[in-house]
Amino acid sequence: MSISVAATRKTIPQIRARKGGEPIACLTCYHAHTARLLDPLLDLMLVGDSLGMVMHGMENTLGVSLDLMILHGKAVMRGSREAVVVVDMPFGSYEESPAIAFRNAARVMQETGCTAVKLEGGTRMAETIRYLGERGIPVMSHIGLTPQSVQVMGGFRTQGRTREEWPALKADAKAVADAGAFAVVLEGMAEPLAAEITAEIAIPTIGIGASPRCDGQILVMEDMLGLNPAPPKFVKAFANLGPQISEAVRAYVDDVKGRRFPTEAHTYAMKKAAE
Ligand code: KIV
Repeated sequence: MSISVAATRKTIPQIRARKGGEPIACLTCYHAHTARLLDPLLDLMLVGDSLGMVMHGMENTLGVSLDLMILHGKAVMRGSREAVVVVDMPFGSYEESPAIAFRNAARVMQETGCTAVKLEGGTRMAETIRYLGERGIPVMSHIGLTPQSVQVMGGFRTQGRTREEWPALKADAKAVADAGAFAVVLEGMAEPLAAEITAEIAIPTIGIGASPRCDGQILVMEDMLGLNPAPPKFVKAFANLGPQISEAVRAYVDDVKGRRFPTEAHTYAMKKAAE
């Protein structure tokens, strides 16, 4: 086998080995331009099916198709060289059987060139996670608040608020770790539960609205940049780009209109300046 391209991309075993070590920094990413900016800084970029809501204005993630995920996965891969890139398996593309999950996940891997896939569900998806892993497809699992089950849950609700819910959520975490997932996203989970799961399982936990004691963190990039006017409560804003964009566009519009359609005031000001 000849290898002509320098292998600079981080690997799944490297991410897996960060359990209990240097925290794993992850963000969602949906297109090539932002991928270029994020890639050298992050350990892992997730082409999340949240793109249905963020980029396409959908109400939830249920309407996202495999083709849409592949389109955005390709775009992110074109802008990325170093980070691990994980592409979400959308609703309806993997739940039916391990064989169908394999066929669709293999399509995602082949057509995008991504490093791994992510799928939602704990104990009920363990067989599929094992099936994919044994056939060359690394899987990141996603438990707790699983947005593709929004209709069953009756909304986006924090999981594990009462101690009675903990055993089932812990069993989910153990099941996906035992099945060979290389990492597990803990979304919208009561903090002490997420911390206990992190201490109890052998694979890295990646928190979102869970616990800072997870092995890594992920946020939707648009949320942490201040582009979402109504971000989830737990999101820390690291920039406020929404108002900055509005201001820049206002300045641009003024500039264009000022140049092409001078108002009376503008003409007067220009005359005065020329005097
Ligand atoms: O789709 C997504 O962006 C996700 C993250 C929120 C973990 O699954």
